[in-house]
Amino acid sequence: MEANYDPERISVTKSKVEAREPSMWRYWEFLPLISLENKVDIGAGYTPLIRAERLGKKLGVKSLYIKNDTVNPTHSFKDRPASLAVSKGREFGLNAVGCASTGNLAGATAAHATAGGLPCYVFMPSSVEKAKIKQAALYGAQILLVQGTYDDANRLAALAADRLSLGIVNVNLRPYYVEGSKTMGLEIIEQLGWRSPDRIIVPTASGALLSAIYKGIKEAELSGLIGGSGVSMVCAQPLGCSPIVKAFRNGGERIEPVRHPDTIVQSLAIGDPGDGYQALRVLRESGGAAVALTDDEAVEAVQLLASTEGIFAEPGGAISVAALKKLVELGEIDGDEEIVCCVTGSGLKTIETIPEPTNVKLIPPTLEGVRKATGLH
Ligand SMILES: Cc1ncc(COP(=O)(O)O)c(C=O)c1O
Repeated sequence: MEANYDPERISVTKSKVEAREPSMWRYWEFLPLISLENKVDIGAGYTPLIRAERLGKKLGVKSLYIKNDTVNPTHSFKDRPASLAVSKGREFGLNAVGCASTGNLAGATAAHATAGGLPCYVFMPSSVEKAKIKQAALYGAQILLVQGTYDDANRLAALAADRLSLGIVNVNLRPYYVEGSKTMGLEIIEQLGWRSPDRIIVPTASGALLSAIYKGIKEAELSGLIGGSGVSMVCAQPLGCSPIVKAFRNGGERIEPVRHPDTIVQSLAIGDPGDGYQALRVLRESGGAAVALTDDEAVEAVQLLASTEGIFAEPGGAISVAALKKLVELGEIDGDEEIVCCVTGSGLKTIETIPEPTNVKLIPPTLEGVRKATGLH
């Protein structure tokens, strides 16, 4: 199911939007909540769009921006879909919510459920990074670590939604969940001065975020907020779990599920992508591109982004930067284009994926120690 809007509802002016609070809810006309009284808002969205000149220079791109979604309340873009889906759960009068998660949605759903006064049940594969498990548990959710892949956890969550009357944000509340992610696209165009860039590169797992960003931009066109946009969407996935990239590159219609994802990029390890067909359609319709990156390339992108722009992302969040690097090298992206890389999750949750740094030294508490360690005189 996909939400469609009465054009009357989304006819809103730029100045009206600009006068509102800096959160994703400034675009409420584009979100399917009937009464704003049901809104659960802990500050998701309206994250910075940063002009990344130093990184752009390194990659040979003149006009590069980072949409920094690491700074959301639970440190990933998942606060956007969780905020909307939990709000909708309240509007439906549900008694409990939950999610199937590769890690980030767990914290996002748990935090919003707590803030909305609802019990929360999280299903995730037991291989997920420890920080993500602890974070979600701290918000008070019941964590169910499933011995299996994300797809196993997802199937179980779907069963629980059906038999135990749970509102699982990315299963039976999924049409609403997806709409929340649209706000990233709406923010990008507003922050660029109400126009779209040439390309938006998106870390992709289920395909929901990529499809939603595009849908948001198309609806902004429909509402008259921007003129016709020629934005191209780009999908970035880890090589060990890249079913959407494979289907796109093969020119096929069918997305072959990956039964056993093999990557350290846990947050993007969805073998059977729920919005894969939508993502494929958007990639083709927008004249987009898709690329798979090795784990090493994703980790290098974390280091590159941190050391040039001061943004610490997880490998699944910085994979958009790795994709940009690769597509410029392959000649599939031109350095003169205006590009936005979506950086979707914080590195603090996946610290174990980062190699030991070489610029850390243990010194005695003396100036001599500083001189020796640094070569400063
Ligand atoms: C950090 C991060 N980026 C991107 C994604 C991809 O989102 P989607 O499943 O909507 O494609 C995820 C999914 O869990 C994620 O955790």
